[in-house]
Amino acid sequence: MKNKLENIRAESLKAIREAADLAGLDALRVQYLGKKGSLSAVLKQLGSLSAEERPKIGQLANEVRAGIEEAVKERAEALQNALMERKLREEALDVTIPGKAVAVGARHPLQIVWDECVDIFIGMGFQVAEGPEIELSEYDFDRLNIPEGHTVREWTDTFYITEDEKVHLRCQTSPVQVRVMEKQKPPVRIISPGRVYRKDEIDATHSPMFHQMEGLVVDKGITMGDLKGTLNVMLKRLYGPDTVTRFRPHHFPFTEPSCEVDVQCFECHGEGCRVCKGEGWIEVLGAGMVHPRVLAGCGIDPEEYSGFAFGVGLERLAMRRFSISDLRLMFENDVRFLRQFS
Ligand code: DAH
Repeated sequence: MKNKLENIRAESLKAIREAADLAGLDALRVQYLGKKGSLSAVLKQLGSLSAEERPKIGQLANEVRAGIEEAVKERAEALQNALMERKLREEALDVTIPGKAVAVGARHPLQIVWDECVDIFIGMGFQVAEGPEIELSEYDFDRLNIPEGHTVREWTDTFYITEDEKVHLRCQTSPVQVRVMEKQKPPVRIISPGRVYRKDEIDATHSPMFHQMEGLVVDKGITMGDLKGTLNVMLKRLYGPDTVTRFRPHHFPFTEPSCEVDVQCFECHGEGCRVCKGEGWIEVLGAGMVHPRVLAGCGIDPEEYSGFAFGVGLERLAMRRFSISDLRLMFENDVRFLRQFS
């Protein structure tokens, strides 16, 4: 029996020292120390020993048990340490590796000008209104006092959606005026930036899709003076306090009187140069006093109320603002171009 115990001791200690992982180690612990383990099997025979031998073998068995327990504990610690070390190695962070640059986008130059315009007018108490890009000819033409036979109604100018010419892609933001006025009684003070469509060939200054911002003010006693003051504020805010403007008579069907607004050329200050094509002035927008027929068509009494309106091309503002020479750059989405505005 003594031999048996010594054998168990030698065999178990060797196996435990060589255990490859914690699961294997636990299996060994059960194999040697468990209720059905080899040590228990020996101890069950203790009763068959003489009274003299029993305590000796009993003591030896206890030593063997203690030895095995100790060995299991040591091996478990060793395996756990090895496991931890491997984990640390695998999950190690190399804080010296250069970081990955996060690609940050930039606002599109058109959006910059759009946002600036909205800010300027919000500051003057305007609200932002919206209208559909697929518009009824009734709103884009008829109720804006644009007569039958006007060139803008031609199929060569406008993207019609229906054969009967009742629906088309709006060619200006002006129909938003009508949409607002038929819903909202004066005072009205709105701007409406958005896309418009015309059948133009693409070149450095033309695109079949571009952006405008409409403006409309209707109240009692609104005059051309309000129009001039408001647009001067906008242009000085956009182009700087020294900006010189000129209001020149023009014709639009939906305003009377109508005007075009020019800014003095920044390059030559009115002398005439390449930038302004010798004019000394650069046209920036159309405006005027809302035509009485347009007001009346929306149920607003032109005897009681008056208003002014304007429409400005946002690409043109942006191109002038950032000295962009070709409109196509605005739509090509070349990041080398767009990155310059970050
Ligand atoms: N809708 C005009 C255009 O596209 C611009 C315009 C002119 C708008 C005068 C207006 C205005 O509101 O009063 O050319």
